[in-house]
Parts: sequence; structure tokens; C-alpha cells
Amino acid sequence: EPTKLWGGRFASGPAEAMAALSLSTHFDWRLAPYDIAGSRAHARVLHAAGLLTADELDRMHQGLDVLAADVESGAFQPVIDDEDVHTALERGLLERVGADLGGKLRAGRSRNDQVATLFRMWLRDATRRVAAGVLDVVAALAGQAQAHPDAVLPGRTHLQHAQPVLLGHHLLAHCQALLRDVSRLRDWDARTAFSPYGSGALAGSSLGLDPQAVAAELGFDGAVDNSIDGTASRDFAAESAFCLAMLAVNLSRVAEEVIIWNTAEFGYVTLDDAWATGSSIMPQKKNPDVAELARGKSGRLIGNLTGLLATLKAQPLAYNRDLQEDKEPVFDSVEQLDLLLPAMAGMLGTLTFHTERLAELAPAGFTLATDIAEWLVRQGVPFRVAHEASGECVRTAEARGAGLDELTDEELTAAHPALTPQVREVLTVPGSIASRDAHGGTAPDRVREQRDRVFAAIEAH
Ligand code: ARG
Repeated sequence: EPTKLWGGRFASGPAEAMAALSLSTHFDWRLAPYDIAGSRAHARVLHAAGLLTADELDRMHQGLDVLAADVESGAFQPVIDDEDVHTALERGLLERVGADLGGKLRAGRSRNDQVATLFRMWLRDATRRVAAGVLDVVAALAGQAQAHPDAVLPGRTHLQHAQPVLLGHHLLAHCQALLRDVSRLRDWDARTAFSPYGSGALAGSSLGLDPQAVAAELGFDGAVDNSIDGTASRDFAAESAFCLAMLAVNLSRVAEEVIIWNTAEFGYVTLDDAWATGSSIMPQKKNPDVAELARGKSGRLIGNLTGLLATLKAQPLAYNRDLQEDKEPVFDSVEQLDLLLPAMAGMLGTLTFHTERLAELAPAGFTLATDIAEWLVRQGVPFRVAHEASGECVRTAEARGAGLDELTDEELTAAHPALTPQVREVLTVPGSIASRDAHGGTAPDRVREQRDRVFAAIEAH
């Protein structure tokens, strides 16, 4: 006889296709340890309410401990007749402590408040693990910045050469975005740290059970204030899916750059053999698959977010079975990041940067033109005029295939009388970079300070 949680009013069991549609153990089994933790806490409040004797509480906890160990070892597994993780674990408990005692545990709780609570617990642990993985990626990028304190590259806008910047400055820009992803997960956690346990099916419990005690035992900051909201709301799930999708999108931007940097045309980097793949037909190939999978998976995580939002849209309160569809997209987003983050950290930490090539390209494409204009502004020339003059320098240099630093004294003064040879102090890549020394700028001292703050942020988490 399979253990069903709702057999009483039914003359027959479910049709095979009904049961197959309903089944969720193939994905919700990962909630089992959390379900058992919830059962332990629930048994304690049943005892506090006088619904379990001290001896019964003891035996219940012992039975749950054995069940937890059997789940952990794989000795206890869901079977096809177990509709979901909660059903399977009730069967497991009845098998271990007997139906008389085991049958008392379900008083005052519903799978609706259970699953809402367990999903929050699972996600809170998972996002902490993801955040740690993100910090490893940040450490890999900041480590590269530290290893190449003087390296420069052409900073780009519209993918065109724009202004020279320190390589470290560029890498740390990605760190900033990823650190915000980590802090976004922390903000999310503060909102998610409330337990729906005790909400029952939707209306709350009549048995004198204390939701705050359960919440505290399960590591929450408190119990939800509204039992309908507790069982019906999944914005915590959608918000986590957003945080994870945003993270994946930020990773995809790093990844896209690695893919471009690794082309023969750019030649900025070489991938370590351990973090690249070959081709089955072209022996010379060394492909940036880690980065491409990062780029690809970002689309998948966006899909998980939009799919979940669509599932939630217009659902009436409180619980509807639609909500069973909330878990797989979020599980998948976490699973993909569990795979991706260590690979990204490995790939980024072992990249070889070709700093001579980067230095050679940094001034190419007249990236120092803005420096001429700003130097003139410092001499009291209005920016509109300075911009014109600098543009004329570019035109002159371009016409004779020279760099801005190769213009003669005469060519400079022809562009503007205030353009004395002293302008050449900013017509070198290091000079240009050193001049951008306001907070957040690319000057070496500012970048070093920024890097120290990034390392401090990693330490603080
Ligand atoms: N497995 C369901 C879920 O994940 C919980 C069970 C609620 N079932 C019900 N008929 N109320 O949402």
C-alpha cells in the first residue's frame, strides 16, 4: 500500500497519466534534508503545544535522524508512488517510527507552507555558495590586475579605440560589477529570511503552534506576517532568478571580451591549455569554450527568469499547483553557475596577457586626442576650441601617416597657437594615464587603491 497524503475522500487512486504529471521527486528530492530539518522543528512546536509527549518527541527526533542518515547514504529513496519529496519522507518516517507516532507529525502543517519554507532554505544556502564562487572569479581578475600593475591597453567605446587605460583598471571594472552581484544576493537574502512554516494550507494554524520558534530553529530572522502571502508568494524565487541571471549576464561580458581578446586579430591573450578545448578536425585549434559556454548559459538563465515570471503572472492567491513549476528554473540557474563559476575563475586566473602587444596598440587610433584637448583646457582654452584644435592635429597626423606624438612643433602651433611642445608630456600613454588621477580614474595610484579595496571586499565577505 503506497503512503498517500490524501486518500480518504477518493474511491480510486490516480490515473497513471495523472500521477506521472503530478510527480516532482525527480527535482524536489534535493529539498529532502531541509524537509527533515523542518520536521524536527515542527515536532518541537507540537511538543510545546502539548500535542506530542516528551517521549514521543524523542522517538520522533530519533526516527528523523535515522531517516536523514538514510537519505544521505542513499539507503532511502523516493519511489514512483511518492508524489513529491514530502510524501516520500512521510512514508520514510512511518516506516521508521510506526504509523501511530509518524502520523502525528502532519498536524498543523501543509505541503504548501512546507515547500515554500524549504525552497527558501535551499536557495539561501545555494546563493551563499554561488556568492563564494563569484568571489573566486573576482579574486582571479584582481590577481591579474595585481600581476600586471603597469600594463596598458586601448580602452574602447563602440569597440573602437578610445583612450588608453591600465589593464588593471579594465579588469577591475568587471570586479565591480561582480561584487555588486554578490551584494545583490545579500540584499535578497535579507528579504527572504522569513519562514512561511505555520501558514498551513493558507489560513494559519489553529493548534497553538509557534511559527517564530520554527523560524528561529530553521535559521530564519522571523516568521512571515501573513499566512496567505507565505504560501502564495514566490517573488523571492523570481528575484533570486534575476540576481543569478544578472550575474550570468555580467559573466557573459567578461567572457565575450576573452573570446575577442583570444582572436588572432586582437592577440591580447593566450588561454591556458587546461581551460581551452581542441577541434576534432582542425589540429591547430584552441578554442575558448569556457567563455563561450558562459556567454551561452547567460541566455539560459535569462530564460529561467522570464519563464518563472510568466508562471507567476496573474495567479490568484493563495497556493496553486502552478507553483510547483517554480523550482526547476531556479535549481537550473544555480546548477549552471555551480559549473560555470569555477571554470571562469580557472580560465581568467591562468590567462597570459601579451603586454607588449597591448602597449603597442594603446596609442593607436589617436587615443591621445582627448589628452591634447584637455591639456589646452588647462592652458585656459575653451573646450569647444580645444576639441577643434585637437581634431586638426588628428587630421594632420592621419594625412601623413604619423602618430600624434610625431607632430612637429610647427604642426602643433598651426592647430592652435597655445599648443606648445610642452603638450608632449601628455602625448605618451603613461603620461595620459597618469593625468587621469581623480577618484575612480585610470592613474596607477588610483587603480592600486581600487584594487586594494576590491581585495578588502573579498576578505570582508
Ligand atoms: N509539490 C508541491 C510544490 O512543489 C507541493 C505540494 C502542494 N500540493 C498541493 N496539492 N497543495 O509546490
